[in-house]
Amino acid sequence: MNYTKHQIIQLPKILDERGNLSFIESNNHIPFEIKRTYLVYDVPGGDVRGGHAYHTMNEFIVALSGSFDVIVDDGTNSKTYSLNRSYYGLLIPKLTWRSLENFSTNALCMVISSGYYDESNYIRDFETFKRISLEAK
Ligand code: TYD
Repeated sequence: MNYTKHQIIQLPKILDERGNLSFIESNNHIPFEIKRTYLVYDVPGGDVRGGHAYHTMNEFIVALSGSFDVIVDDGTNSKTYSLNRSYYGLLIPKLTWRSLENFSTNALCMVISSGYYDESNYIRDFETFKRISLEAK
């Protein structure tokens, strides 16, 4: 798996008449060790979350319910992913600018991260991100 490129990852889906089941294992379905999981929810219509990149942290984002868009930029190109199912998610490698928007009512966003929360890992200025991303290429 190419860790440097954002991509959709399909999760295992165990179909069952009693209800379906999906799961995520560290270093298996996603290519990093899980250190932290956080949830974004009750986002008012029209609001935007995110709008930053990380120096070294990788993330995997799943829409556990409802839907939202994730706009990613690798420093060269921008792409919009619409997430609306529990059985796939978006892998976002470090040094990728990402923002989350167009949240539906009752949208529940789960973010799995390769690192503990650390403000110094954030890049919050887009021009700084572009420069750092260019230097890393
Ligand atoms: P942040 O990641 O900045 O969200 P957004 O980019 O959508 O604004 O997080 C908002 C605040 O929440 C931040 O000031 C610190 C806190 N926070 C934690 O304490 N732990 C975490 O794991 C996360 C993701 C955020």
